[in-house]
Amino acid sequence: MIQIKPRSSDAARMLPTVGTWATAATEERDVNTEIIRESWSALAGHRREFIEAFYARLFERYPQYRGLFPENMNAQLERMIEMLSSLAEFAEHAHLLEPHLRKVGFAHRKTGIHASDVENFKDTFLDTLATFAATGDADTQRRAWREAFDEVIIPLFDEGLERGRSVS
Ligand code: HEM
Repeated sequence: MIQIKPRSSDAARMLPTVGTWATAATEERDVNTEIIRESWSALAGHRREFIEAFYARLFERYPQYRGLFPENMNAQLERMIEMLSSLAEFAEHAHLLEPHLRKVGFAHRKTGIHASDVENFKDTFLDTLATFAATGDADTQRRAWREAFDEVIIPLFDEGLERGRSVS
C-alpha cells in the first residue's frame, strides 16, 4: 500500500488499500502532503498560468520535446491541471491515485521517453513552482513536491509506462 504520510495530521484517517498491484511503489512513502495541498491551493486562480509557464519553460530548455505534443496545447494543459488537482486533493489517500498515475504513465508508451526526460520534467516543474510560490517557504515547497515526484508520481508513472511498453 502506498501511504503518503501526513506529517502533522492523523494517519488513522487513511483509507484501506484498494488494488493489488504489489510493486516497489507500494512501500510506505513519506511525503509532506500538507505542503502539497497548501501550495496547490495557493495557486488557485493562477493554475492555468502556472501550467502554461511550466510548458513554456520545458520547451525553452528542451526544444526537442515540443514536437511530441500537439500544436494546440489546450487539452494537455487541462489534463495536467486535473492530474495535479487530484494529487493535491487525494494526497493523504494516495492509493486512490495509483490507477490514475499508472494510466498517465501508460499514456506515454509511444513517446519514447527515458528516465532522464522524466527528471527534466520534474526539475522544470520544481523551478516553475519556485517562481510562483507567493506564500510559504519556497524550499519546503520544493522539497515536498520533489518527494511527491520521487516517491509517488514517478514510480507509478514508470510502472504504467513499463506496462504500456510491454503490451505495445
Ligand atoms: C512524471 C512526469 C510526467 C507527468 C506527470 C506527465 C503528465 C502527463 C499527463 C497528465 C498527460 C495527459 C495524459 C492523458 O492523455 O490523459 C500527459 C501527456 C503527454 N505527455 Fe506527459 N507527463 C510526464 C512526463 C512527460 C515527458 C518527460 C514527456 C516528454 C518529453 C511527456 C510528453 C507527453 C506527451 C507527448 C503527451 C501527449 C500529449 C497529447 O498528445 O495530447 N510527458 N503527460
